[in-house]
Amino acid sequence: MTPRIRIEEAHAHAGESVEIAGWLYNLRRSGKIAFPILRDGSGLMQCVAVKNTLGEELFETVKNLTQESSLVVTGRIRAEQRAPGGYEMDVEKIQVLQRVSEADPYPITPKDHGVDFLMDHRHLWLRSQRQHAILRVRHEVIKAVRDYFDSHGFTLVDTPIFTPAACEGTTTLFEVDYFEDSKAYLTQSGQLYNEATAMALGKTYCFGPTFRAEKSKTRRHLTEFWMVEPEMAFATLEDVKRVAEEMLVSIVGRVLENRKEELKRLERDVTKLEAIQAPFPRIAYDEAIGILQAKGSEIQWGGDFGGTDETLLTQDRDRPLMVDRFPAAFKAFYFQPAADRDDVVLGVDVLAPEGYGEIIGGGQRIHDLDLLLARIEQHHLPKEAFDWYIDLRKYGTVPHGGFGMGIERCVAWICGLEHIRETIAFPRMLYRLRP
Ligand code: 4AD
Ligand code: MG
Repeated sequence: MTPRIRIEEAHAHAGESVEIAGWLYNLRRSGKIAFPILRDGSGLMQCVAVKNTLGEELFETVKNLTQESSLVVTGRIRAEQRAPGGYEMDVEKIQVLQRVSEADPYPITPKDHGVDFLMDHRHLWLRSQRQHAILRVRHEVIKAVRDYFDSHGFTLVDTPIFTPAACEGTTTLFEVDYFEDSKAYLTQSGQLYNEATAMALGKTYCFGPTFRAEKSKTRRHLTEFWMVEPEMAFATLEDVKRVAEEMLVSIVGRVLENRKEELKRLERDVTKLEAIQAPFPRIAYDEAIGILQAKGSEIQWGGDFGGTDETLLTQDRDRPLMVDRFPAAFKAFYFQPAADRDDVVLGVDVLAPEGYGEIIGGGQRIHDLDLLLARIEQHHLPKEAFDWYIDLRKYGTVPHGGFGMGIERCVAWICGLEHIRETIAFPRMLYRLRP
């Protein structure tokens, strides 16, 4: 029996006959020889089909294969410096599972398609080399995030997706019917629940889909995105910043180590990633306003950063920038006020360099019962909905904090992409719910 291998395992089979199952990625022909390139999800394999070896009929079959036809190819693996991946396969046998019809050919061809066309064909576009590379980097980022928390004493606790109340403000909630006369909202963040689980486990994190009904059509916004959110009991803003910094250094290091090929395919300048080392610069919001005004931004003290401001703050930096101590006025109700000033809160945003902007938001939470009650009232939030959250301040309250990182924004930065839409297999945006 000929062993079935994946293309990424070819190096261990040089000189052997093996079987590879995949799809036709490309085909070159010249007279009595054809070079079908096979893709199987793990790599590309250039095959060499020779008429004299295969016989007339089989050679004709190979020669007339169409893009994305599904195949099982048997042949001998041979080292070949010039081939993609460093190995070639001398074809001995080909079994065609499905030949894609010329009458209805694979819609994505090497020619330039517009992004709307590609997005409409996202289910097929994922097969392209670039999308393949991005998804592999995304996988590595997620694995690195989990490994970081798992090896630093955090316990993964999944938080609910149906929630009865807002975490990040009511304007961006997706509402759903929840049985008789009752409404639920799709979660914007697992944070409030993380605060409960952190009091049970000390250090926790959740990682799951989150939803924002934001009508922003920008290169940074999705309506459904994946967020990793750590939360720590007995922690201050300083601890939150330290963990965010360590986690990012560790993620970038892992991608550089394990996804070199993919970064190359994406033409990512890896020297930019190699520069991601601690310590990251830290500035207060006050200082950021000064920098922005000096660069010509119209922003005034008290205003939230717009996308352009984030770009201005980060475009000529080589490391992520941490901005903390934001005006209380535009931050969520749960932020702990600074000890020396009550107009600013202990929140921090981490802005990725090269103009990418915010990838992490977090901070220290209010732990004092009376202060929390006052804030809930000031923000006109329904106190009943927060009863359980208030309980956490009654039974052994402690300073605590954490953050949330949007996986897609992190991947867009690491891959050097212009738009967030390519970082998730099936993006959900203001005008995109399909496929
Ligand atoms: O700054 P945000 O809104 O913070 C929170 O939700 C906190 N409750 C997190 C916490 O402290 N546990 O969102 C956190 C991150 C942002 O920095 C960004 O990376 C990502 O989530 N994010 C989005 N990503 C894609 N599309 C959107 N519409 C996003 N909104 C936020
Ligand atoms: Mg934020």
